[in-house]
Amino acid sequence: MCGIVGYIGTEDAREIIISGLTRLEYRGYDSAGIALYGSESKTFNIYKDKGRVAHLESITDFSYKSCLGIGHTRWATHGVPNQANSHPHTSEESRFFIVHNGVIDNYKELKSELLTENKFYSDTDTEVIAHLIEKFSFEMNVDEAIRKTMSLLEGSYALAIIDTKDESKLYACKNKSPLLLGIGDKGIIVASDLMALVGYSKEYIPLKDKTFVEISGNDYKILDIIGKVVKHEVKVIDVDYTNIEKGEYAHFMLKEISEQPSVIRTIITKYFDGEEVILNGKVKEALEESDRLYIIAAGTSMNAGSVGRELFEKMAGIPTEVHIASEFAYNMPLLSKKPLFIFISQSGETADLRAVLVNVKAKGYRTLTITNVKTSTLAREADYFVEIHAGPEIAVASTKAYTAQIAILAILAYGLSDKHINLRKELSKVAISIENVIDRREYIETLVKEYLTKRNCFYIGRGIDYYACLESSLKLKEISYIQTEGFAAGELKHGTIALIEEDTPVIAIISQRDISKNTRSNLNEVKSRGAKTLVISTKGVHEHDDQIVLDDVYELFSPLLTIIPAQFIAYYAALHRGYDIDKPRNLAKSVTVE
Ligand code: F6R
Repeated sequence: MCGIVGYIGTEDAREIIISGLTRLEYRGYDSAGIALYGSESKTFNIYKDKGRVAHLESITDFSYKSCLGIGHTRWATHGVPNQANSHPHTSEESRFFIVHNGVIDNYKELKSELLTENKFYSDTDTEVIAHLIEKFSFEMNVDEAIRKTMSLLEGSYALAIIDTKDESKLYACKNKSPLLLGIGDKGIIVASDLMALVGYSKEYIPLKDKTFVEISGNDYKILDIIGKVVKHEVKVIDVDYTNIEKGEYAHFMLKEISEQPSVIRTIITKYFDGEEVILNGKVKEALEESDRLYIIAAGTSMNAGSVGRELFEKMAGIPTEVHIASEFAYNMPLLSKKPLFIFISQSGETADLRAVLVNVKAKGYRTLTITNVKTSTLAREADYFVEIHAGPEIAVASTKAYTAQIAILAILAYGLSDKHINLRKELSKVAISIENVIDRREYIETLVKEYLTKRNCFYIGRGIDYYACLESSLKLKEISYIQTEGFAAGELKHGTIALIEEDTPVIAIISQRDISKNTRSNLNEVKSRGAKTLVISTKGVHEHDDQIVLDDVYELFSPLLTIIPAQFIAYYAALHRGYDIDKPRNLAKSVTVE
């Protein structure tokens, strides 16, 4: 989703900002822009357009020196992706340039109550902010004008602001949307993601909500809305982003699918001492003391959470609920007496989850984040956090983070169980079995050509296979744009079966001994109505004409394995349709607006 990079210092702002924006591309965006101050010409210029950062680079003038600038990648929320709606936006008299990440809920009210005379050039909520700052700057200092504007804004924002009357300063502020200050020897960067700081800063400051920063040279002041100094923590950047090249792979998604065995092995080395699971004592205590777990997540992470519920209930006997974060935030069910909230998020920045986290923390409940990004907002703000160690995930469609999340949930559930299995051995078996699927990917590609020929497709399964179906169909739809749903196999006949016509592709996932026969009869029902069926099964329950037969693994861990052919199915379906696999349309990797 939107990315911000701003710089002030003695180095080339343009290079730092463009390379930062390139590193933020993985978050998903539709337009890009940059505002630069030319140190010799003493002029400010804006370059912006719909399209990729490479396009922005091609329209940016590189011929002059610039030591101050702000850049942005936009994921449209208000107004279509076009040049006018791209950031930076300017105030009415063009004194202030701003870039914004987030959504201003009350922008219409602000416009109609305070800016009735102003002329607007875009359909964005952002432009209102620039106009307000300028309006207040006629009556007060710039820092006060920005803080006064902040006090009126409802919603989420991370902002980087340039005052064209003072090129010695860069301003920034935030509420709900992430924003970091990167401290370098030759300047300061503001960015929405640590990735943009790597190579330029060794230290960074995660900014708190409702804080304002004034940066001049290598100096910065961090204040709250009323101008009081806010305490902050300077952290060292110790994240390894060396692993962010595609290498020999055609796409990041293919690379990340292929990395899953090594991710599981990394998790084993991080969380086992011999055969024993090593869990942080406080995390274990929090899990043991709670009478019910509430898993809060979105998208793929929620699908991992649904598998997690099975693991917590069946392995550890702890009642567990899984909730869509955006629903839970504003429609909380009755809670148990001692709940523990578990937030599962690859990015650790998902705004829907953060809304719940802030809410339940305010009520005094304990919180645990399971994430891939240890420096993220959700990791920082929860009481406890557990890292999934999947390594940077760049493709928008999540693959290795899903398996890593399930492996971690298995470890947590096991830590609370009567240890009736050898978890280390079972997870190692899964890693080998995933390798066996990866070796057969070309065969899966031939199946895709034969079966995935229609505009639609259904995944069906029961029990834990149903959760794997939900994730399988999410993968397929998000990158191949095939209309697909995952269904509980037994539910089809209660309505959805009406959609089955001649040659409709139906993919069944069958891995559970006690219910495999039931899924098979549901499969026969759709077959008799003309469906073209493809079966992903495991050896213990397979039939001779199943197309994809996987190794047997511990039954509750089967989603770690059945998802792999489904990831390949999605990948090849998108590949053969010629789509942008790593950056599917309309999607963002880091969903920082509610
Ligand atoms: C799908 C996908 C999304 C994310 C969802 C939550 O492939 O990646 O559905 O799972 O946007 O994001 P995180 O896990 O970062 O909270």
